[in-house]
Amino acid sequence: MKKVVLLGAPGVGKGTQASGVAKSLGVNCMASGDLFRDHLSRETELGSKAKSYMSVGELVPDEITIGMVTQWLNKGEQTNGFVLDGFPRTIAQAKALDNVLIIGAGSLDRVIHIVVPVSELIERLSGRYICTKCQKPYHLVSSPPLIENQCDDCKAPIYQRDDDSSDAVKKRLEVYEEQTTPLVEYYLGAGLLTEVDGVGEIDDVRASIQEVLA
Ligand code: AP5
Ligand code: MG
Ligand code: ZN
Repeated sequence: MKKVVLLGAPGVGKGTQASGVAKSLGVNCMASGDLFRDHLSRETELGSKAKSYMSVGELVPDEITIGMVTQWLNKGEQTNGFVLDGFPRTIAQAKALDNVLIIGAGSLDRVIHIVVPVSELIERLSGRYICTKCQKPYHLVSSPPLIENQCDDCKAPIYQRDDDSSDAVKKRLEVYEEQTTPLVEYYLGAGLLTEVDGVGEIDDVRASIQEVLA
C-alpha cells in the first residue's frame, strides 16, 4: 500500500503521523496546509489568494487547491506512491484526485480515517506550536520540543498558527463537519476507508496506522 490519504478533523494528528508513515512506505508526503503556509511565508500570488480563507478557518476554493496539489502529484517522484495529509477535503477534490490517478493508470490504496473526540481536538490545538521551517507539530504538554521553543529536527524557532485561535478552531471544526465528513461515505463506498483511533500515545497511533498499511 503506497498511495495513502490521511483523513480527519483539525488536530487529529495528521501532520504528526504523516512523515513517519511516508518514511516507512518509502514515499513522499504532502500536507496541503503546509504548502499553503509555505506560499504565505514566501508571499506568492497563490499565498495571497489563500490567506483570507485560511485566517478565518474556511477552505481555500477547490480550483486553487486542486491546481496546487495536482502540480505536486504530477512531479515524477510521486508515481511510486505518496501520503496525503489534508487533501482531499471536499467531494470535488476527491474526484479530482481520482482523475489524476486514473491518468497515471493507478488508484488510491487506502484512506486512513483518524478519529479523536472534539474536546480533545480543542485541547490539542490550543497547545500546539509548529516549526517555522519544516512545520513539524509540537504540543506544549504532550510532545514538547527537546529544547524550549526550538524544532528538534531543524533547530528553527516554533510558533503558534494564527488559525489555532479559538474562533478559527471553532470554524475549522464546523467546516470539517459540513464539507469533509461526506468523504467518509465516499471512501467507504469505494471500499478504501479504515478507521483508526487517534487517542493514545503518538507511537501507538502510528503502530495502528502501520498495521493497516502492512
Ligand atoms: P491544515 O494545515 O491541513 O489544518 P487542519 O486540517 O485544520 O489540521 P491540523 O494541521 O490543524 O491538524 P493535524 O491533524 O495535522 O494535527 P497535528 O498533527 O498538528 O489546513 C489549514 C488550512 O489550510 C485550512 O483551514 C484551509 O484554509 C487550508 N487548506 C488546507 N488544505 C486544504 C484543502 N484540501 N482544501 C481547502 N483548503 C485547505 O496535531 C495537533 C496537535 O496534537 C499537536 O500539538 C500534536 O503535538 C498533538 N498530538 C498529535 N497526536 C497526538 C496524540 N496521539 N496524543 C496527544 N497529542 C497529540
Ligand atoms: Mg496538520
Ligand atoms: Zn523544523
